[in-house]
Amino acid sequence: MTQHQTLAAPVFPAETLDRMAELYPQRAGLLHHHLPDHPLLSLEALAKLGESLPASEVEYNPGDIPIGIRPEDVPSNGLSIGETIRTIDSNGSWAVLKNIENVPAYRTLLMDLLGELELVVVPRTGAMLTPQGFIFISSPGSITPYHFDPEHNILLQLRGDKVMNVWPAGDERFAHRREHERYHTGGHRNLPWEDTYKEDAQQVPLGPGDAVLMPVMAPHFVANGNAPSVSLSITWRSEWSYRESEAHAANATLRRVGLDPAMPPRWPSYAWAKTVGWRVARRLKLVS
Ligand SMILES: [Fe+2]
Repeated sequence: MTQHQTLAAPVFPAETLDRMAELYPQRAGLLHHHLPDHPLLSLEALAKLGESLPASEVEYNPGDIPIGIRPEDVPSNGLSIGETIRTIDSNGSWAVLKNIENVPAYRTLLMDLLGELELVVVPRTGAMLTPQGFIFISSPGSITPYHFDPEHNILLQLRGDKVMNVWPAGDERFAHRREHERYHTGGHRNLPWEDTYKEDAQQVPLGPGDAVLMPVMAPHFVANGNAPSVSLSITWRSEWSYRESEAHAANATLRRVGLDPAMPPRWPSYAWAKTVGWRVARRLKLVS
């Protein structure tokens, strides 16, 4: 197989697309994939990819850090990114390679995978904007601290196992509106953590062939199992997710002048109503 070969068969089974149609875009849940062993995703290929990416697109650190940690308190593991990936079995680390869509062969793979989801995504949240890919490589027992991300995301588990712990997006018990406002005005993704949150976690165990659908801004942390793990995250944005970001950023400005703006409404409360309203209007021939 050459590095530019497209996928020979669909990666997402029909049952997974059906399940995704039930969950997306609001809820997290278990999906499945058939991504075969791929030459672009071997440890050696990933080590070379890590060495070729600009430093800004590579993040790595020791894996035995607390679930809740301030970004400035995360220590270095003292290795290069290439060494970190090549010896991930034993060095107790966590690494992410970001924006792999900037490397042509990885972009092809990403676009092939996202293309399989269009039939589910486009009718619900419109065009798939800003495709991005991330690869996580982590040692046995490592933790990804509690945080949220702005993208619609499916994380495909390729090697090893982990448990995704996820909380509902937009529930201020787990990420207050001030945390959203901070993030959408340039703040770090990590969130304040309380041990009491654990009682309300949705736990999604993942092994090779499993995937998890992650809603925009759903707080989560990840606990690796007893083997080294490789996961591929495929992400996209929607017009709605950008509008929600802008609403939080605007609210941050209002808060600075002494107001206490409400949490912006989540999909589909207003967007869904708009979509349905438009469909009804079309049926009544009020719009063309
Ligand atoms: Fe994440």
